[in-house]
Amino acid sequence: MTLLQVADLTIVDAQGIALVDRLSLTLNAGDILGLVGESGSGKTLSCRAMMRLLPGEKLKVSGGEIRLNGVDLLSLSDKRMTAIRGREIGMIFQNPASHLNPVMTIGQQIAESRRLHFAANRREARQQAEALLRQVGIPDPQRRLDNYPHEFSGGMRQRAMIAVALACEPKVLIADEPTTALDVTVQMQILRLLGELRDRLGIAIILITHDLGVVAQTCDRIAVMYGGRLCETGDKRQLLAQAQHPYTRGLIDCQPASEGGSGRLVTLPGQPPVAAHFPTGCRFHPRCASATRQCQQVQPAMQSATPTCSHLTACHHPLPMRSPAITGREHD
Ligand SMILES: Nc1ncnc2c1ncn2[C@@H]1O[C@H](COP(=O)(O)OP(=O)(O)O)[C@@H](O)[C@H]1O
Ligand code: SF4
Ligand SMILES: [Mg+2]
Repeated sequence: MTLLQVADLTIVDAQGIALVDRLSLTLNAGDILGLVGESGSGKTLSCRAMMRLLPGEKLKVSGGEIRLNGVDLLSLSDKRMTAIRGREIGMIFQNPASHLNPVMTIGQQIAESRRLHFAANRREARQQAEALLRQVGIPDPQRRLDNYPHEFSGGMRQRAMIAVALACEPKVLIADEPTTALDVTVQMQILRLLGELRDRLGIAIILITHDLGVVAQTCDRIAVMYGGRLCETGDKRQLLAQAQHPYTRGLIDCQPASEGGSGRLVTLPGQPPVAAHFPTGCRFHPRCASATRQCQQVQPAMQSATPTCSHLTACHHPLPMRSPAITGREHD
């Protein structure tokens, strides 16, 4: 069942440059969608638009639709959107320290949501806060309720922020690079927690990351962005095994061997484009080994990459399918 449908979302800056250009995404109930791309590709802006929280007054949505359960969020009054934000669609960030209130205890921050959205009384709200801390794997939750954010480690703070978001019982959780600042072991634990929340609560998650390895471990579907545009989307296994877009292929080849890449230490040659100088045609053409004159002049449309109609790519010269023997390892 489609829960969140983004169609042709366009976000422009003060100069009218499309920082996000006609982005279309579908998030199904209970799915984890990985939104992938290098820094500056428009992942955060797209998701902030879904929350109607664009950073900066000069940025605005100039076109498209964002439908949550069929309701177009962009056409709601500010008051209606305030009721939906957090309650139906929540967000967690890379840096929990700057999104948790430093002068309130973790327990107070969770309980406040319960009282506001569910009219829980003080005692109920505290009990529910304790249960939520337990649910996100914080040991000794009864005692931890009375701690302030600075008394938590980085991983525990991220768990606490997840608990604050879950307190509103959202149907969709947007996680913006939630593990980037954490060490590898804690990163794995947080990713596992997100998977468990999906399994236990049926919550749908958009996981933003620049790391395809994170996506390979956690997600069901993948959407790859480059220069504000979607370049490829599809089922995770299909897309990782049969990437058709040269940029996606490049990202995969940059991964360590354990994630399906070559294992060589490679980085994608060149730099991602800056908005003021977006290339014409396909925005990836200056870095693409397959680029032709057509690529420089004409923007490729999203089209079916393989017989499975849910695998789409925007490329004039999609890569040939790899045989399983070359693809090697299965991803799960
Ligand atoms: N507050 C802002 N004001 C103006 N431009 C911004 C702002 N935030 C992001 N941008 C620009 O929008 C583009 C997309 O940024 P962002 O969505 O943060 O990328 P990502 O999350 O993929 O790293 C970049 O070119 C960035 O410079
Ligand atoms: S459209 Fe052309 S430049 Fe863009 S990714 Fe495809 S081959 Fe490369
Ligand atoms: Mg970002």
